[in-house]
Amino acid sequence: MSSSKKPHLNLAILGHVDHGKSTLVGHLMFLTGAIDEKTMREIEEMAKKVGKESFKFAWILDKYKEERERGLTIDVSHVKFETGKYFFTIIDCPGHRDFVKNMIIGTSQADAAILVVSAHKGEFEAGIGPQGQTREHIFLARTLGIGQVVVVINKMDLVNYDYKRYLEVAEGVAKLLKLLGYKITPVEWEHEGTKYKGYAINDIPFIPVSALYGDNLIQKSPKMPWYKGPTVVEALDMLKEPPRPIDKPLRIPIQDVFTITGVGTVPVGRVESGVLKVGDKVVFMPPNKVGEVRSIETHHVRIDEAKPGDNIGFNVRGISKDDLRRGDVAGHPTHPPTVAEEFVARIFILWHPTAIGVGYTPVLHIHTATVPAKIVELIAKLDPRTGAVVEQKPAFLKQGDAAVVRIKPLKPVVVEKYSDFPGLGRFALRDMGRTVAAGQVIEVKPAKVT
Ligand code: GTP
Ligand code: MG
Repeated sequence: MSSSKKPHLNLAILGHVDHGKSTLVGHLMFLTGAIDEKTMREIEEMAKKVGKESFKFAWILDKYKEERERGLTIDVSHVKFETGKYFFTIIDCPGHRDFVKNMIIGTSQADAAILVVSAHKGEFEAGIGPQGQTREHIFLARTLGIGQVVVVINKMDLVNYDYKRYLEVAEGVAKLLKLLGYKITPVEWEHEGTKYKGYAINDIPFIPVSALYGDNLIQKSPKMPWYKGPTVVEALDMLKEPPRPIDKPLRIPIQDVFTITGVGTVPVGRVESGVLKVGDKVVFMPPNKVGEVRSIETHHVRIDEAKPGDNIGFNVRGISKDDLRRGDVAGHPTHPPTVAEEFVARIFILWHPTAIGVGYTPVLHIHTATVPAKIVELIAKLDPRTGAVVEQKPAFLKQGDAAVVRIKPLKPVVVEKYSDFPGLGRFALRDMGRTVAAGQVIEVKPAKVT
């Protein structure tokens, strides 16, 4: 089966800095044939030369990243590989400065995620601590609606492939995932008459691996005979294909806009819902600009129509690059995307040093858009576990609270109800360089569009 015929999944790679996300993806790309031997050898040489051989797999991604930054291509993402069943586009999260911001933008388009957790002494503990990104990423993935997660316990080579350490890490991660509403079940294996325990998420066991040495990536590792679950590649094939809403109105959040010589204006983005065909009239909101689609491309291949999940670049006649920007949303003029005057949302406060009241103005990150927004009403405080109302009109909200609030974007932005368009109805609020809250849109009051 050629890659274009396989169902396509966008996969976010989550995890604390240095836990081995890029190494895992790079090695998977190599093992699944997305990177040929020759390119691999070149990268290996480069890495060796500067004494960073252990980074050779991570560099596969860096190489693409660099290409992407130089703008050599209009593809949204180049990092991809295929398994028996699926064709994956990878949203790898670089582990530094803008990590969470990228993660929000990245995961708002992800169908599933791999959570990479290092078992190395001290690393697991740092990731899962109150300041750790393991914790923050699980939380965000949940709020952004990523239901399917594969948990990978990495760097097993650094802990002698030890079952006890695997179980300790698995228990910590299972507890966190459960707390945030993921379905965790205990699993058991037997090896040479001894019973071994582990945990599974949506029936996929947490997988002990060495991303560097390739244990349990595509082949079962002889160094961990006590583990009887799937390899990472087998687990990826166990993921379920998400629903593709082709019968809903068209929505394409724009990630970037290019002008290509001889072609014209080319917005790029992922189709969230509906179908886009060559010849269609499209409207971009909030700017309210209408154009006609002349061609559509995905991964350098021309297509006649694009469906939900497709990452595309499309050439539109009648619109200049300056009319559009990242964060605009394309739809058909018969059902244009909704620009919000205000919206009501269910939020969870992940982090705040003091208290949040009416008038608080963080930055709203929703689909590909970033705008300042003000909290204009605290409607109710909720029990974070059950969602039941525990207090009407609270005076303020604190870290750990769940609530229903009314939010007013201070600049025009497209916001949709989560129940109508999940990808355009989940968001994060950020302040002081950190994620304060994440939420889902319940109700939208449309703005008058001129
Ligand atoms: P950021 O992008 O900076 O967040 O890091 P990352 O999570 O992508 O980690 P990366 O793949 O860059 O790996 C970080 C370091 O851990 C590198 O030195 C890797 O060689 C090392 N590493 C990754 N996986 C393994 C592993 O399975 N075993 C060992 N021993 N080292 C590993
Ligand atoms: Mg990385």
